[in-house]
Amino acid sequence: MKTVVISYSRTGNNQILAKAIAAGLSAEHVTITMPGEKSFFSIGMDMLFNRTPKVNTTQENPVDFQNVVFVGPVWMGQIASPLRAPVRKHRNSLQQYAFVSISGGADGPNTKLTAELKKRIGKDPVSVVNFLIAEMLPADPKPTREQTEAYRLDEAKAEELARKVMEELKTFS
Ligand SMILES: Cc1cc2nc3c(=O)[nH]c(=O)nc-3n(C[C@H](O)[C@H](O)[C@H](O)COP(=O)(O)O)c2cc1C
Repeated sequence: MKTVVISYSRTGNNQILAKAIAAGLSAEHVTITMPGEKSFFSIGMDMLFNRTPKVNTTQENPVDFQNVVFVGPVWMGQIASPLRAPVRKHRNSLQQYAFVSISGGADGPNTKLTAELKKRIGKDPVSVVNFLIAEMLPADPKPTREQTEAYRLDEAKAEELARKVMEELKTFS
C-alpha cells in the first residue's frame, strides 16, 4: 500500500520536514496551502471557534489515501487548522495514519494531539511525533517563543529528523 504525506507549513519548517519524510518513505507528497498568508488573528479565530479554513492542494492525480502521514505545525496546542479540511476529507478511507510536527515547544510539550486526532478521525494514530524546537536550542537560558518562532529547519537537520520518523513508522507498509 502506498503512503501519502499530506503537509501544511506556514513558515517552511514542516514543509522541508515533510519533503524529507516523503523522500525517505518513497511516498507521494501532497502540499496544502492557504489562498493568502495566515495572520495571527485568523489563526486565533480558527482555534477559538474550531473553524476549518478553505485550502488549496497540489494533488493533481487521484491517489489512495489509506496510509497517510499528516505533517504540520502545532498552533495553540492543536494541529494547525489548514490540515482540518484534508483530515475530514480522507478520514473514512484511512487505514492507518500518523501525525508528525516540528513545533515551537517554548511553553512545553503539546499533550493533546493524540486525543484531538482521535476525535477528528475516529481512530488512533499509529504514531504522533512532535519535534520541539525549544529542545534543539541551548537549554539555558530557556528558549523564548520569539526564539523558537525564528528557528528555520535546514535540509541536513530535516533529514536527521526524517530518519527518526522512519524508525517510528516501521510498521507503515
Ligand atoms: C499562532 C501560533 C501559535 C503557536 N502555538 C504553538 C503551540 O501551542 N505549541 C508549539 O509547540 N508551537 C506553537 N507554535 C510554534 C509553531 O508550531 C512553530 O513556529 C512551527 O515551527 C511553525 O511551523 P511551520 O514553519 O511549518 O509553519 C505556534 C505558532 C504560532 C504562529
